[in-house]
Amino acid sequence: MEVVIVPDAKAGGELIAEAIAALLRRKPDALLGVATGSTPLPVYQALQAKVRSGAVDPSRARICQLDEYVGLPADHPESYRSTVLRQVVEPLGLTVDSFMGPDGTAEDVQGACDAYDRALAEAGGVDLQLLGIGTDGHIGFNEPCSSLASRTRIKTLTEQTRVDNARFFDGDIDQVPHHVITQGIGTILEARHLVLLATGAGKADAVAASVEGPVSALVPASALQLHPHATVVVDEAAAAKLK
Ligand code: F6R
Repeated sequence: MEVVIVPDAKAGGELIAEAIAALLRRKPDALLGVATGSTPLPVYQALQAKVRSGAVDPSRARICQLDEYVGLPADHPESYRSTVLRQVVEPLGLTVDSFMGPDGTAEDVQGACDAYDRALAEAGGVDLQLLGIGTDGHIGFNEPCSSLASRTRIKTLTEQTRVDNARFFDGDIDQVPHHVITQGIGTILEARHLVLLATGAGKADAVAASVEGPVSALVPASALQLHPHATVVVDEAAAAKLK
């Protein structure tokens, strides 16, 4: 695992956007796994700036989701489908055809999860998966105690994660769904390159446990230690508890 400490979130965004741009120059139809939440926004902004300046052509890129709320209509502004379309797919000038994600509205939820794992494999696998990290060490929505071998499946959000995400729902925790579909840790580990970005002091404990602690289902992000090509980009605040 490679750990890169950057001064701030903007620098982290620029570093990762350059890694994505380099991948797209090498492999124009790369499959990029994207995360939602606040952390990846500087990456998406920096990538859009590169596209505008002509530094990279993303027109053949393919985008896939990491997770999705269960039961939220696909066109709800806070569904991860809507969020990724708004924050990544449309600003990069891509169409919905280049984009895939799990169906959070399916009646057969496990069937939708299995179909998504199959679709990722049929698409050739994820080339670069961008990850954030929860204050409890989750990746995707694999909360603590998730099996390190898990596949895409339904998970119950912890109270802490629902509190953390209430800010996207007018601060009203009652609007935050209780369940999500998430790529499993085993699914995530199949991506060729994992890039985790963590910014802010609130992530410092989770970063230290993931990078320097034992590999443990109690800290899902510690699974990155098992991956042959994992890069953890942290700003100084999130790095504060590293030894
Ligand atoms: C979202 C996701 C989550 C977030 C994590 C951190 O798709 O997979 O693991 O990355 O909850 O969220 P932020 O970045 O909002 O602190």
